[in-house]
Amino acid sequence: MPGDKSISHRALIFGALTVGETRISSLLEGEDVLNTGKAMRALGASVERTGEGVWRVRGVGVGGFAEPRAPLDFGNSGTGCRLVLGAVGGCPITATFDGDASLRKRPMQRVLDPLTRIGARATKVADGGRLPITLQGARDAIPIVFEPPVASAQLKSAVLLAGLNAPGETVVIEKEATRDHTEKMLSHFGADIQVEPQGTHGRRIILKGQPELAPAPIVVPADPSSAAFPLVGALITPGSDLIIEGVMTNPLRIGLITTLREMGGDIAMLDVRNEGEEIADLRVRASGLRGVEVPADRAPSMIDEYPILAVAAAFAEGTTRMRGLTELRVKESDRLMATANMLRVNGVEVEIEGDDLIVHGNGRASGGGMVATHMDHRIAMSALVLGLAAEKPVQIDDTAFIATSFPTFVPMMRGLGADFA
Ligand code: S3P
Repeated sequence: MPGDKSISHRALIFGALTVGETRISSLLEGEDVLNTGKAMRALGASVERTGEGVWRVRGVGVGGFAEPRAPLDFGNSGTGCRLVLGAVGGCPITATFDGDASLRKRPMQRVLDPLTRIGARATKVADGGRLPITLQGARDAIPIVFEPPVASAQLKSAVLLAGLNAPGETVVIEKEATRDHTEKMLSHFGADIQVEPQGTHGRRIILKGQPELAPAPIVVPADPSSAAFPLVGALITPGSDLIIEGVMTNPLRIGLITTLREMGGDIAMLDVRNEGEEIADLRVRASGLRGVEVPADRAPSMIDEYPILAVAAAFAEGTTRMRGLTELRVKESDRLMATANMLRVNGVEVEIEGDDLIVHGNGRASGGGMVATHMDHRIAMSALVLGLAAEKPVQIDDTAFIATSFPTFVPMMRGLGADFA
């Protein structure tokens, strides 16, 4: 399995903010992460590939970014763009941020708002707080207390990255805990960061600014959001029995596994270990699934997995209701709409009610549909997995975006017996 996308972006960005040389192994070499690497180079860090998945980053230190000569192009990646907006927002430089047609539709105002409080200023922004954006970073960054209005690890991370270059304490108070890779990696590089529980599901994160980050090696674990595709493929394809090795099982990332088990999915975690992140080998066997209710408060731990969960739900017996999916509307595509259409054109009964996605499964899908992928890698891969178990082949209109997160998807799935033409 390829390396985790969230951790790969962060490894390059935090590596670039250390003083010294960070060695990263098993980095995800997908287009999204490569664009973040290019941005780090444009900001003055040295980023070199020294072997397969092995990279060396020589950092410039916190606050040490140089002004880039050309606009930074983040391609399809919201994570790369939002995290680097934060990192630049805390530094006294100006940079222009841009991306592809999908990224240009995604909301950036949510990041610009706290960055403005920190002292940064967006001197050019497209309508509706969209890219392209020119950001003048703070001359003297101000530490803030920030309560994200949406559960978003990208937003939290952007504020922590900007806060790195502010004196004093930057505090982020999350109502719903989101993936904590930024917090863990900051601590790994020697920052003074404390995380406390807040309310029932939340966290309070306190970062002491202006640390000197020290380089430390990073081994990127396999991406649970990519493992989700062969995982669901194995559950719905009769006779499958698969082991997926070294998958990160950080509790804030495994809502899909929890849900699939509730549906009756046979998924065992073998050889559970901790290598900075929790990791396990997943053994998955084809299973009869039944529909379930997926509570809204589980969304942050499986936010990228709803399209593939919807595929599992199509092959389950009974109705699956996935609640509280507002954020899905602002991913690489409007994923709520794209997921519903993916199923509908393949003969599955599906409804959208408010922010809920409802799939009426009856253990089968006729298939035969052409799926519009809307520049969204996860829609493309989910549709191909749907095709594994559908009665007639499923087609997708574009495979190009699969390379943003999972460049080896097609050969890997073929190696498991998938018939892709
Ligand atoms: C990510 C956070 C999530 C997720 C994205 C990766 C991250 O986005 O959808 O694929 O690495 O922080 P949001 O923070 O917008 O929920």
